[in-house]
Amino acid sequence: MRFKEVFGAILIVCTFICTTNFTYSQSKTPIRTASSIQLNASLKPFYHGVASGDPIADAVIIWTRVTPDSNFTGAVVVSWSLASDTGMTQIVQNGSMITDASRDYTVHVDVTGLQPDSYYYYEFSALGKCSVRGRTKTAPQGDADSLRFALISCASFESGFFNAYASITEHNDIDAVIHLGDYIYEYESGGYGFNPATGRLSEPANEIISLADYRTRFSHYHLDKDLRNLHQQYPFMVIWDDHETADNAWRNGAGNHDPATEGPWPIRKSAAIQAYNEWLPLRYRDPLHKDEIFRKVQYGDLCELFFLDTRLHGRDQQMGTTGTQVNSPSRTLLGADQFEWFTDALKSSQAQWKVITQQVMIAPLKIAGIAVNEDQWDGYPAERRKIFDTISTHNISNIVVLTGDIHTSWANDIPDSNYNASTGAGSLGVEFVAPGVTSPSELTTGAPIILAANEHIKYVNLSENGYVIMDVNKTRTQADWYYVVTLDSSNSTALPAQSLFVNDGDGFLSSGGAVSVANAELLSAIQAPAGIRSCIQVVGSEDLSNASVILGVYPNPIDDHFTVHYYMEQAQEVQVSLFALDGREIFRTSIGRQNPGLHRSRFSVDEDLTGGLYILEIKTGTGKTHAKVLIQ
Ligand SMILES: [Fe+2]
Repeated sequence: MRFKEVFGAILIVCTFICTTNFTYSQSKTPIRTASSIQLNASLKPFYHGVASGDPIADAVIIWTRVTPDSNFTGAVVVSWSLASDTGMTQIVQNGSMITDASRDYTVHVDVTGLQPDSYYYYEFSALGKCSVRGRTKTAPQGDADSLRFALISCASFESGFFNAYASITEHNDIDAVIHLGDYIYEYESGGYGFNPATGRLSEPANEIISLADYRTRFSHYHLDKDLRNLHQQYPFMVIWDDHETADNAWRNGAGNHDPATEGPWPIRKSAAIQAYNEWLPLRYRDPLHKDEIFRKVQYGDLCELFFLDTRLHGRDQQMGTTGTQVNSPSRTLLGADQFEWFTDALKSSQAQWKVITQQVMIAPLKIAGIAVNEDQWDGYPAERRKIFDTISTHNISNIVVLTGDIHTSWANDIPDSNYNASTGAGSLGVEFVAPGVTSPSELTTGAPIILAANEHIKYVNLSENGYVIMDVNKTRTQADWYYVVTLDSSNSTALPAQSLFVNDGDGFLSSGGAVSVANAELLSAIQAPAGIRSCIQVVGSEDLSNASVILGVYPNPIDDHFTVHYYMEQAQEVQVSLFALDGREIFRTSIGRQNPGLHRSRFSVDEDLTGGLYILEIKTGTGKTHAKVLIQ
């Protein structure tokens, strides 16, 4: 969502009622000289760093991207290890997987069997090199006293340095990062919010439309040191907003998509979703439906997070905020299936705090009695009413809604029809809206008008960039807004500016508390180190002293038969498999116990097998070894 739609509307209304002047910022066209991101050669081949996401009590997704040499077109075996110490000596889990061009050489591993509420460190190895080590943390199970999350959204690369990310990394005082969307922007270089003071230019330079475009844009973002460092230190929980596809996206189109010149929307949408899935560490509610990001994550008895997709899954087209169509009872922002899943999950939640993590503001925003933003829940009133009715009918308490999208900061009571702004009675919960990391508000004044016209809105900041720290305990949930001191240069300073909280059972906002402070456990947690370990000896199950070495596959390309020449370090049972590049296992056979030393085994190829590249795997009790083969 770009702000000018909102404030274009406000401006029209304000020509009649407002006395405050509105000011707009103007984008300037960048002069492209060279890439503004330098590749850190020491990170080769893991230039994009590491990441983790969607932690639960006993598992977490770990992620990386390996960049093979430019002339490499086949698959890459990537090993991973997860340990309880930064030096990676106390290995808890390890393994390996194959990645290739079909998934843009990204790697996702759902590491299971972990302990709740625990820090872990992880790294990847491939092509003889190790990645940086990442730190992650599992969610608590059962009783939990306190939790802290950083809330971020809207990171326009060309608008400024990602100083908010650097600040969160430096503070070392949260459990996880919640990214509320607009992780990337789709515009061409200079197309949105360009800040000439930074010299930051997007890659690719064109508006992103194809799969290759979206992949390149994600790759460029992950090369930013501040984003890479943030991913390295904390698990993320992410949802997309509109700019991961195109501005003001809905189910069947977007404000910034013209089928006449940019092709069919389903193709663009599918490309954007694929790149998002490849480049971010999500755990899907249903792994067979990676276009559905709505899901929930439990943080013990204290907190349950519900992640919604108000953009691509079910949203009807924006149609203003008044009129018969807008008020139609069948109009939807979520889609019927997501609505049913969400309300069922909300009703059955046993957690103290129910945190609804989504994209667009749910509290009404009206000027002179007119809702001004068709892109928010104001444009979908019937479905919002049904959600409000679900909350009130079932007496669901401690609702906290998290929102991004609009590059400004808000704290709202969520008013039911009987809402009393003086006492807070009739508020169904509270809403915290995170500012943009860098994305500009196109309006810098006007907050007094908004506050006067909307008594349930308790805080507005229309001009600053930064993030929110949400501190949750059994007594209250508090949001602290932090703002960066500059976007123009690299500077990790961010200062707390406002704190609001909701007490357990109240359902409405209170103010007057001090900025929240992390407990000693968070503050003393050891960060993953910046350096890379020497990785000549591959760790874990790829330890060559315990596995096998494929010396050759003959012939290669393969016709109807092939022979594998391999070496066994010790006597073991051996299994040979062939995988398609997408990971499908084509065949598997056991060739029994093999003695130490050199071996040759001969196999026939099913004549029905489609020609192309495949991965041959030799698996022993202690490891796996792979080779790329071409079948004619
Ligand atoms: Fe945004």
